[in-house]
Amino acid sequence: MAELFAGLMSGTSLDGVDGVLAEFSASGFPRVVSHAYRAFPEALREELLALNTSGADELHRSALASNALAALYIEVVAELLANANVDARAVRAIGSHGQTVRHRPGLGYTWQINNPSLLAERSGIAVVADFRTRDVAAGGQGAPLVAAFHRALFGQAGETRAVLNLGGISNLTALLADGHTTGFDCGPANVLMDLWCLRHTGQRFDADGAWAAQGTVQRGLLDLLLQEPYFAEPPPKSTGRDLFNVTWLESRLRAHGPCHPVDVQATLCELTAVTCTDAVKAHASDASELLVCGGGALNLHLMGRLAHHLPGMAVRPSDARGLPAQHVEAAAFAWLAYRHAHSLPGNLSAVTGASGPRVLGAWYPA
Ligand SMILES: Nc1ncnc2c1ncn2[C@@H]1O[C@H](COP(=O)(O)OP(=O)(O)O)[C@@H](O)[C@H]1O
Ligand SMILES: [Mg+2]
Repeated sequence: MAELFAGLMSGTSLDGVDGVLAEFSASGFPRVVSHAYRAFPEALREELLALNTSGADELHRSALASNALAALYIEVVAELLANANVDARAVRAIGSHGQTVRHRPGLGYTWQINNPSLLAERSGIAVVADFRTRDVAAGGQGAPLVAAFHRALFGQAGETRAVLNLGGISNLTALLADGHTTGFDCGPANVLMDLWCLRHTGQRFDADGAWAAQGTVQRGLLDLLLQEPYFAEPPPKSTGRDLFNVTWLESRLRAHGPCHPVDVQATLCELTAVTCTDAVKAHASDASELLVCGGGALNLHLMGRLAHHLPGMAVRPSDARGLPAQHVEAAAFAWLAYRHAHSLPGNLSAVTGASGPRVLGAWYPA
């Protein structure tokens, strides 16, 4: 019998919350029935950003921020149900990722603030949350978790496929023809471009990459940025704002010397293009297409640069394979909730480096 699950995702970009309501057939294949999005109110966005670095009274502030986050999640769930004309009782569970404020798997932890109890209480729907920590407990990175969903959705026996998620951070999933899957975080996707764009244009992101397209890539700066040791590390690996943040960028800009802001933007966009396409060339060079998802798929300039570096590979948004780019990550968390509800593993240990497959998350009853 088909079952409904919702997925809620708010990622490192700190843009807002994407929600998806999806129907899962007995085979576990999802069909998205509705999508909803809420941008973060400015004050919440600033507080979530602030909580990414150490500061005063963090426990108290995290608790309040997780309540505010839950309030927004509840609005998204209400809209998902209204859009699909579905009653809360018809939904088996919500997969709620929460907001990552620290990601330090090397130190044995990853931290998503969330209030699944409040979400369950107010929505009347069971919640599955805290997906990443079990993978970390099993020695894994706890990320990227979307790789398993990419495989379930886009994998095709006998054919190599590549899926690139461009959120705040970029991650590649290489679905190899022999059934093997590789995946890891490539580096920053939108996180640095967004902060630079906000600082110099007042806009939260560079719509269509139009501003970056006006600049000239500064080769010296790009080389400096590419010296970051993370890029050369072998997988399994994952990263976040803990590394790629304003301090990281400013120290490189200081070392480089003066540069026009628009040229910095062009260079940051090129950094994303180069690090992602290097990953594709290293792990999925025989793929005929690169499916792109996440908000970065809307950055036309970036999409053009990806295509430039991958001649012979069709670079296209995941919409081409039936799932719109902005639905993929939220749908992945609906899928992870489905997996939990059926006591099925949600991680791919070959990707995260965990010692084996694990059922991810904890169940908060309706
Ligand atoms: N029209 C657009 N043009 C360029 N970039 C966009 C556009 N729409 C969204 N984005 C980028 O996508 C980001 C959000 O992507 P998302 O997949 O939600 O990331 P995350 O999972 O980190 O929240 C925004 O912060 C912005 O940088
Ligand atoms: Mg987002």
